This record gives sequence, structure tokens and C-alpha cells, in this order.
Amino acid sequence: RFMEGFSFLTKMASFTPLSNQRSSLMNIMSGQCVFGQKKHLFFLPLSEKKKKNGPKSLRDLRAERQAQAERSVLVSCHPKTHENKFLKYLSRHGNVNKCFFYESFGTYAVVEFSNQDGVQSLLESAAMPSVSHESVVPLRSRLLSLRNVNTVDTDKQSAPSRRTCPLTVFLLTQLEQQIVSLTEAHSLTDENTRLRFLVCSLLNDIAAAYFPQSSIKPFGSSVNGFGKLGCDLDMILDLDGTSEGNANMPRSGMYMEYLVKRTSSERAVTQSVLSVIAGCLDQFGPGCVGVQKILNARCPLVRFAHQPSGFQCDLTASNRVAMRSTELLYLFGELDARVRPLVFTVRCWARAHGVTSPIPGAWITNFSLTIMVLFFLQRRNPPILPTLDRLKELAEPSEKCVLDGNDCTFTSDFHRISLETNTETLDQLLGDFFEFYSTFIFNRMSINLGRYGKEHKPELHPLYIQNPFETSLNISKNVNSSQLERFVTLCQESAWLLQSGSHLNTLLLPSHISVVRGRKKRKSQPASERIKGLLESLRIKNNSNNTEAGVTVVGLCWCVVLSQY
Ligand code: GTP
Ligand code: MG
Repeated sequence: RFMEGFSFLTKMASFTPLSNQRSSLMNIMSGQCVFGQKKHLFFLPLSEKKKKNGPKSLRDLRAERQAQAERSVLVSCHPKTHENKFLKYLSRHGNVNKCFFYESFGTYAVVEFSNQDGVQSLLESAAMPSVSHESVVPLRSRLLSLRNVNTVDTDKQSAPSRRTCPLTVFLLTQLEQQIVSLTEAHSLTDENTRLRFLVCSLLNDIAAAYFPQSSIKPFGSSVNGFGKLGCDLDMILDLDGTSEGNANMPRSGMYMEYLVKRTSSERAVTQSVLSVIAGCLDQFGPGCVGVQKILNARCPLVRFAHQPSGFQCDLTASNRVAMRSTELLYLFGELDARVRPLVFTVRCWARAHGVTSPIPGAWITNFSLTIMVLFFLQRRNPPILPTLDRLKELAEPSEKCVLDGNDCTFTSDFHRISLETNTETLDQLLGDFFEFYSTFIFNRMSINLGRYGKEHKPELHPLYIQNPFETSLNISKNVNSSQLERFVTLCQESAWLLQSGSHLNTLLLPSHISVVRGRKKRKSQPASERIKGLLESLRIKNNSNNTEAGVTVVGLCWCVVLSQY
């Protein structure tokens, strides 16, 4: 993952209006007071706050970010580029709204002009590189490189310092503060989010050559509020704009229709569109490397790395249900200030213990884990989150939404959602989350966000998490029994550690838990069973992912087996 080492320099120009998102997480937690050194967090029912401030819907937020991205450029710079001179140069082309530097593979600057004219003027002034022994693909994009004809390319200026992950999480004492710090340290920054939208916009310029009405939009954790620095960039090539004209078809009389090519199914169209875009990105896309077509997956996609941003990208097409899931997760995250920190902590915990993995396999995914947290919060007394059916009931007729035959209706209007006050603290919730899944009857019950009392499992997979909208699908079909068992054991041990007063750092250190697990497991399970479980997980992984990375993991797993015996 390119983005693991991503570091923002956040060196802002002095005249740039800065929105300091980092410092504001504590304010996001509603009802915060500071008494002396101690911070006390009061979780008011967020709907009260929302009513006052009027939160943005994901649609509005997306539109705002998209507009920012469209008037931005991405510039590769020398690491010691003199900011003020750079800004002075840029201001010859237009007003600069925002400019920040970051390091990925080299140093880059994101420059946002106050309008499109600034971008146009800068692009018109840009030259094609002149190379003597190579040829260039003459594609003029908004991904530029800063050059200087003078011999002095840079000014004497110390290299900007890298932003490191704050270690405060290990120094704080109170669990709740630690959870908040962890969230603050790892959640997507404003700059990172801007860059994600900018990458979508840059890629869209390429796709638009074939489909002028299309747009590339981010979905998943980049925009649902649960994104962690380093998470992949999931994008959808939304071709719907191209068929919008159909709504205007008259009932009688003459009309024009596009003469189009026809294929056997929508899936076939998606596959051929993605195939062309993949070829285009591979051959001409500046900064796009390692382009893979994964067109036979349930949801066909193109995977590649966008080197200038450092993002691992997944591009799909017509995956409208996933867009709707993103909106639902965003809504849940906005409804109560405890949701995001709790999801974050559970996701970090899961990653630290190998419950989740960036390599595909028999593991629980972050998406599944997020649904598990939301499901748990729906079952508090009083509930912290409403069920999806309740959100459906609250929807206005105008919010009715059916996508690919699935009812995806729910209200996005915070004003209509009210819940009884629940005053549980994050410590309590984290402990209870582990308790809840320590004793959850996985062999009979399913996890679904729909409604209470509909949790009976319709099929035999070890873990059944109902897809929120495509309700006949189990999003955790890949999870095998040994992975589920591992998850449950870790929940038991983590619940026990929290009850005995351990701090978050203990919970996040794999060594602490594995010691406990080692003792427990040896007592409860014969060695042959443990090896059988491991082999089962290896077999599944091998079948699903016979890649170099898969082989490495197999090797590692054997090391674990050998070191235990
Ligand atoms: P991270 O990338 O791990 O941070 O989380 P993510 O939520 O972005 O997950 P992922 O990149 O795996 O998937 C992106 C989006 O695709 C999710 O947010 C879901 O909306 C959707 N998605 C992921 N997995 C599934 C699945 O198994 N079934 C369905 N129907 N949708 C999924
Ligand atoms: Mg993702």
C-alpha cells in the first residue's frame, strides 16, 4: 500500500485561508468541556446539534468537493520549492484559494484556484517536455511538473518536516481520550480528502474523452466518514449522465434517438467500458501504474496505483448500490458522535490483530466490520442508531430510490430522525462491543441493519452479514470458521482486558493478546484442530488468490505453525 507512508506537509501559504480540521475533532465530539487538564466528553444526542447547525448531506458535500477538485491542479515539485515564490508565480494565473504540499513518491502540491480561469491560464502556459531519446504521449492533463529554467531550481530552505503519527495515544490515560486521539491521528484529513477528489477529477478528464457526460466519483471509505489514512480510493465511473436524455422522450411526434451499439447485458457493457478505460489509463494516464483489469469479478473493476497521490485505486462502473451504501454509512456516522471513533477503534484493533487484511482472503473486511459495529449500536438500550427499516419509514416520497431492482430508500434528512437519549460512554461501548460479539450466536443469527427480530440466518456460512440493500446477499461469505473463531476469541480476550482496566495500547498490541490467546487456546483446542483451521484458511486463500502476495502469506502462516510447535 503506497499510502501507508503517506505524509502531508500541510505547509500552507500564509495568505491561504486554512481550515484546521485536525484540531477540530474534539469539537466534532458534541458537548465537549475542558476542566483543567482533563477533557470530559458528553455525548448529546447528535440530532439536537444537527438541528441547530444543519449538517451537510453527502450529496452536498460531494458536490462541493467535486467543484473544488475541478478548479485544482496537481503539481510535482522539487522538495525544497520556495512556497512564496511558487505562490507568486501561480497568482499570475489567478487567485489561489488553497495550496498545500505533500510527499508521496516525490513532493507534490495541490493548488486550488478560485475559478476555472486560473486553471485554464496555467494549462495554456504549460509546455510539453522536450526529450531527446524518448517520446512522450502528448496528453495535456492537470497533472503538471514545476520546472525552473534558472540554474537555481530551489531556494535554500530546510526540507519540510514530515507529519508523523502522534504517539499521544500511548501517553493518555483515559480510554475515551485514547479512542478520540486514535481517531484523530488516523482519520482522513481535509487535504487527503481534497486530493482524493482531485484524483477522481483528473481521471475523469481521461474518461471524458470517450464519455463526455460521465463522471468519476469516489465512494466507500474515502467519503463515508470511516476512511483511515492509507485506505484505498474506490471510484465509480458514473455513465448515467449519458442516458439522461431518455427522460425527455415525448409521448407522440418525432424525436431523435442516439444510434448506439447494443450488447447482451449491462454487465457486458460495464466490462467493455472498463476494459477501454483500463487500456487508456495504462497507455496514456499520467501517473497510473500497474493497471489490472479484474473484469470477471462480481463487480467488474480496474485496479491500479496512482503514483503522484500514492493512492491504490479501484475503479468500477455502474455500481450504484455501493454508492447508496456509502450514503447510508455516512448518515450513520453523522447521526451520533460516538459512531466514528468506535468504528475506527474496532477497525484499528482488527488490523492490529490480523482480523482484517489488505490481501483478499477468508478474513472479515472493513466494510463487514463497520456493519457489525452499526448493528451493535442499533441494539443498545436505548438504541444509538435507528434501523434501516425505520429510516425507510421516515423517507419522503421524493426520497424513494430503487436501484437495479433493490429498494434503497431511506431518509437523509437529519431533522426527521430522532432517537431517545443514550448516555453511554465510548469506554462502555467498546467493552460491550467485545462482549456482544463474544457471545453472539453466529451459527443461528445473522447481522442485518434492517429491523429488529429478523436476525435468523438463512444459510450456512459461518458469518452472515446481510448486504443492506441487496438483501439476498451475504457480504461475509468469504469468512471461514477459523477466522470467525479467531475473531470471537479476540473479542473475549479484549473484553477481559478492558474489564481488568487495560488501556487502548494494550488492546492494540498483538503480543498482549496473543499471549492470552496462546494460553487459552492450548487448553481449549487440540493442536490437530488448530492446524486443520490454519490449513483450511490457507486453502481458501490459495484458491482465491494465487498471487505472489498470497504465496508470501502462506509462507508466513507456516512460520507461525512451526513456531508454535
Ligand atoms: P476500506 O477501503 O477498507 O477502508 O473500506 P471500504 O468501506 O472502502 O471498503 P472496500 O474498499 O472494500 O469497498 C468499497 C465499498 O464497496 C464499500 O464501502 C461498500 O459500499 C462496497 N462493498 C465492499 N464490500 C462489499 C461486499 O462484499 N458486498 C457489497 N455489496 N458491497 C461491498
Ligand atoms: Mg475502500
